[in-house]
Amino acid sequence: MTEDKMAGTPIIRIKNLKKDYKIRSSKLGQPPRVLHALSGVSLDLFQGETLGVIGESGCGKSTLGKCLVQLTRPTAGEILYNGQNLCALSNSALKPVRKELQMVFQDPYSSLDPRFTTKAAIEEPLIIHGLERDSKKRRETVLAMLREVGLDVQHMDRYPHEFSGGQRQRINVARALVLQPKVIVCDEPVSALDVSVQAQVLNLFSSLQKRHNLTYIFISHDLSVIKHISDRVAIMYLGTVVELCDADEIYQNPRHPYTKALLSAIPPDSPFEKAQKLTLSGEIPSPIGDLTGCPLAGRCPERMPVCSQKRPALKEISPGHRAACFLYHQEEYAEE
Ligand SMILES: Nc1ncnc2c1ncn2[C@@H]1O[C@H](COP(=O)(O)OP(=O)(O)OP(=O)(O)O)[C@@H](O)[C@H]1O
Ligand SMILES: [Mg+2]
Repeated sequence: MTEDKMAGTPIIRIKNLKKDYKIRSSKLGQPPRVLHALSGVSLDLFQGETLGVIGESGCGKSTLGKCLVQLTRPTAGEILYNGQNLCALSNSALKPVRKELQMVFQDPYSSLDPRFTTKAAIEEPLIIHGLERDSKKRRETVLAMLREVGLDVQHMDRYPHEFSGGQRQRINVARALVLQPKVIVCDEPVSALDVSVQAQVLNLFSSLQKRHNLTYIFISHDLSVIKHISDRVAIMYLGTVVELCDADEIYQNPRHPYTKALLSAIPPDSPFEKAQKLTLSGEIPSPIGDLTGCPLAGRCPERMPVCSQKRPALKEISPGHRAACFLYHQEEYAEE
């Protein structure tokens, strides 16, 4: 990440964030079980950066994004924003904060209401937040937003089914942008799009970021998308961040065995072929119930006795590079 982005205080600090879901037992009369979707995530987000978040399906990426914008309330931990812990705020106290923290979702088809024209979809957040009561001015604002995302006046009164996937995602971006947010969580926003359209929408995200000094959390399971867009990358596994560093560093110098395995899975003709090959045995353990030790311990070829006894903390192992692995710091345990 560039020096100026790392300088300054973080815009958001996430501390030991946890999210549990109660799962009904399939057996009659059995008590519900607990699924740990996030089990202690701590990270800082810096003003103007794009933090890429990558990991296999079910590792908690969307849960992290939803907790950050408070669409889902975390079970424990803190999210510090403007000196406030968002997790401790009531719904009414959260309302002014919500417009500063927006989210764009994966599926551009289902995230727009089919009964709303483009104009109605983009102005709705303004109406909800009581930001622009004059309908003529609202129309002007909507038009300005449409132009920001590469659409124009002729798209105002059309319905979602009249657009391509890429155009719909542009409308979703305009809807998020109209509230002048500071942070946008982008949850797989290009995964449903064709590769050629993906590049255009990624470029749109980049240019909007520069123009509005936006901070992004960019969630994807696609390593090339993450490489293209991110300043830093967080690798997630089973509800935790296992490695966090600059985007270039993650491909040149992966340190956590899970990151190495993730990079090893990329086809050999990719630019990541230099990554030290590493294969994991077995499947990802279930997030249901309690797990002692490092979440990768059962599958890791480099495991040591301590790995199945304690959970390693995400600690700095070289400047700006953090890993949660006892190979690099024997005595640092995560907060339970
Ligand atoms: N509302 C819910 N109720 C119960 N369990 C949930 C709920 N939402 C998510 N989970 C569980 O939490 C875990 C993390 O889910 P999450 O959607 O955050 O994963 P993800 O990394 O975004 O996966 P994907 O790449 O498939 O989108 C999963 O095991 C999932 O089944
Ligand atoms: Mg998800």
